[in-house]
Amino acid sequence: MQKQAYQPIDCLHFIDGKFVPSLDEKTFDNINPATEEKLGIVAEGGAPEIDLAVKAAKRALNGPWKKMTANERVAVLRKVGDLILERKDELSTLESLDTGKPTWLSGSIDVPRSAYNFHFFSDYIRTITNESTLMDDVALNYAIRRPVGVIGLINPWNLPLLLLTWKLAPALAAGNTIVMKPAELTPMTATILAEICRDAGIPDGVVNLVHGFGPHSAGAALTEHPDVNAISFTGETTTGKVIMTTAAKTLKRLSYELGGKNPNVIFSDSNLDEVIETTIKSSFINQGEVCLCGSRIYVERPAYEAFLEKFVAKTKELVIGDPFDPKTKVGALISEEHYERVTGYIKLALEEGGTIVQGGKRPGGLDKGFYLEPTIITGLDRKCRVVNEEIFGPVVTVMPFDTEEEVLDQVNDTHYGLSASVWTNDLRRAHRVAGQIEAGIVWVNTWFLRDLRTPFGGMKQSGIGREGGLHSFEFYSELTNICIKL
Ligand code: NAI
Ligand code: MG
Repeated sequence: MQKQAYQPIDCLHFIDGKFVPSLDEKTFDNINPATEEKLGIVAEGGAPEIDLAVKAAKRALNGPWKKMTANERVAVLRKVGDLILERKDELSTLESLDTGKPTWLSGSIDVPRSAYNFHFFSDYIRTITNESTLMDDVALNYAIRRPVGVIGLINPWNLPLLLLTWKLAPALAAGNTIVMKPAELTPMTATILAEICRDAGIPDGVVNLVHGFGPHSAGAALTEHPDVNAISFTGETTTGKVIMTTAAKTLKRLSYELGGKNPNVIFSDSNLDEVIETTIKSSFINQGEVCLCGSRIYVERPAYEAFLEKFVAKTKELVIGDPFDPKTKVGALISEEHYERVTGYIKLALEEGGTIVQGGKRPGGLDKGFYLEPTIITGLDRKCRVVNEEIFGPVVTVMPFDTEEEVLDQVNDTHYGLSASVWTNDLRRAHRVAGQIEAGIVWVNTWFLRDLRTPFGGMKQSGIGREGGLHSFEFYSELTNICIKL
């Protein structure tokens, strides 16, 4: 393991402006997935800590936060973004220690994008205008936008800081107060973020953080609490179903970004080198632990053999190992449990009649840490579980297709509908196919290119609602229509 400049931290809750342990002082261990060693301890919160945090957030709704002018709110949110950038190396180190992702990735994407989430939404506040409707000469209606109230943010472990800031920034921009529950596997950068919010001048009680587990614990308590008005959740589809059930008792507003089984559709007229370069990323970046990763790769038959040969060759070049080695492109999977789940799918692929043409095992020389070779599987069809279920690791299937109709039929034959990428130089086909894929996001001749003003989210069981620009503001604000008789 290469030496890092920053040491891991122990993680406390952040409630009403103070870092505090759990009432019963309970903690759990935080494990480094790249070494399997203990990084530190984390306060284990439950219903009592959630209740304290929600009470603080509820009080803060009518405190100094409410009295801030738009200009003052813009300034503190900008400051959060600035402080994230000032502490970039520290945050990137902690993110890589917690997740096992390479530091080139946490340093070049996770942390800068997290700062940008704050800079973007602080700017965005100024573009928000109110709707007004003149009803002949009878009445003037205008709608005012106000906060929803106390918002619960529940996050996954794959992009801990990036996804947390993606929710926190617009929720704050719209004037809400917050209780965040980061993933139990990745508590460190959320803890630093709470400190940054305090240092940026966000008043006490506006941003609260409770660590802990999901079911029957902190996560569940947050979704059940009667004073929480909305939950924004990113995580597994199955967890989303559970949260919907518990949140129904108090009829909470829900925003969901869930799982995916995203297709890449490659036509033989596309530029193969460009396709390969991007497909390597869409398959294996962040160890394949990104909801947007393309895991079902469909290649038009004339290009199939050439694609597969080059794709396998380029995948072999990826350096796997120590996240702190700058040469590393693929780090460790998040946990032993997840490693078992992902490798379970590789075994299943063989049982289902598939062929592993690349990877499939622990890389040589890496005996500690949850490392897995990027894996490419062929010979499976849509009836196979490996083609249907989200694996959320560095495992993709490659399948040939003959016609546009046939590939669309296969692509849409899933409960998921998050994203897709289509590769072709035929302009008309690009539009025709993109418009027929049942997904919230379709990229053409690219992948992961994001403009934060555009709607982000999934169809079918991949999500409810959209995030980004005005879409985020719609979720995080209430409208009151005021009707004045003239
Ligand atoms: P997960 O669903 O197991 O956990 C996510 C969060 O929910 C954690 O903080 C966990 O503690 C909490 N949680 C679990 N059970 C809960 C319950 N009963 N009540 C309240 N909270 C609960 O997901 P995981 O394994 O952390 O993340 C991977 C998943 O996230 C994948 O399915 C992936 O596709 C999805 N994801 C979706 C994204 C999107 O934008 N659509 C982005 C990133 C990940
Ligand atoms: Mg961890």
